Amino acid sequence: MKRVAAVVVLSGLALTVLLAAEKPKPAKPPAEDILMRAKLASSQKVLEGLVEKNFAHIQKGGEELVKVGEANEWVAHEDPSYEHFRREFRRQARKLAAFGEQQNVEGASYAYLALITTCVECHSHCRDVLRIAAEPPNLKAVPIPTTEGRLSDEDRRPVRR
Ligand code: HEC
Repeated sequence: MKRVAAVVVLSGLALTVLLAAEKPKPAKPPAEDILMRAKLASSQKVLEGLVEKNFAHIQKGGEELVKVGEANEWVAHEDPSYEHFRREFRRQARKLAAFGEQQNVEGASYAYLALITTCVECHSHCRDVLRIAAEPPNLKAVPIPTTEGRLSDEDRRPVRR
């Protein structure tokens, strides 16, 4: 009986391995997606540093965010508001790194709040304003329609134009 069980388990394992090998590899995410995920990871590192009063984490996370903000893949926009958020993001990230280095937890907390505000504001702008304003042929400021049904999760993603 034991042997039967072992055979069942082993063949199950072999099947799992085979199936895993069969799966097509996911396409390599574009550089911009990696950058966006990096923003999230680095800002979490800063938060961890703030709650644990770990200045090395705050400084490191801030420096990483500065690098993300300066990356060419995150191309500058024609849109002035987008450019403003991008510049503000870099400014707050530099402040975070500096406050981390100076071991100033209050200053770093304040810069962190300002930074997170730019994340949310830029995302709202990209999702709700740029998308609508860019829709041809009405290339003018238009109010966001309130009659529209709920947006799907896909539509809720911020869109770069
Ligand atoms: C200047 C504008 C701007 C700022 C500031 C910004 N983002 Fe983004 N973010 C975008 C845009 C545009 C996209 C969509 C990029 C794409 O997929 O083409 C995006 C996408 C993302 C994604 C991927 C979302 C998904 O559904 O895959 C994450 C995660 C993210 N941002 C996190 C952050 C965090 C965290 C911050 C702040 C620390 C931040 N972003 C600040 C513009 C911004």
